[in-house]
Amino acid sequence: MPAKFITLEGIEGSGKSTLLQKMAGWLAGRGHSVLLTCEPGGSALGRELRPLLLDADREKVCMEAELFLYLADRAEHARRVIGPALERGELVLCDRFTDSTLAYQGYGRGLDLDLLRRLNHAATGGLAPDQTLVLDLPPEMGLSRARRRNLEQGLERKEGRFEAESLAFHSRVRAGYLSIAGEEPGRVKVLDASGGPEELFSRACKHFSREMAL
Ligand code: TYD
Repeated sequence: MPAKFITLEGIEGSGKSTLLQKMAGWLAGRGHSVLLTCEPGGSALGRELRPLLLDADREKVCMEAELFLYLADRAEHARRVIGPALERGELVLCDRFTDSTLAYQGYGRGLDLDLLRRLNHAATGGLAPDQTLVLDLPPEMGLSRARRRNLEQGLERKEGRFEAESLAFHSRVRAGYLSIAGEEPGRVKVLDASGGPEELFSRACKHFSREMAL
């Protein structure tokens, strides 16, 4: 079975984590050996970097330093975790990847998009997803879902750095994702994530059955 690399993207509260869990079960049920992983935090180094990046109580670092921490996380993850899994013939499902850097550090923070593309390429060594799903919903809805979840899980202060950004920031991130999808329609599929998790799951399964014969 050919190796496949699938990424999920979207603003906070778009339902990526729930969908990933369901998809991992669905794909395993179809005989795939699945690696479920995420950024930031998918490697040993990444697990140390994650609190530095997301803890809302830490003093904010400048956006260039933030960028290089995400890229360090990605370099290690791509070379030590994702690449080897694909070589073993596993199907890799990853919660965020290079498009997050374009959407958040580029469209959101305003860093130069061409520079970010080159840095992404340097970090990954050219490893790129075969298919990407962008879970799309209005940022008002996503943020209220994310805040509710953080409160329930006691994560509000621990991982709330991006939830604390303005609505305008999240609107730029959303628009960024939609424009990436417009540029690469063969790789990136936008799914409406404003409904319930079951509806989203069934749309995602339909897409992958059709597009990738998974
Ligand atoms: P994640 O763990 O997926 O949190 P959530 O479930 O809230 O989406 O991602 C953590 C945050 O990291 C998310 O707000 C987006 C941000 N991020 C970037 O800004 N740039 C990046 O390159 C990546 C991978 C993530």
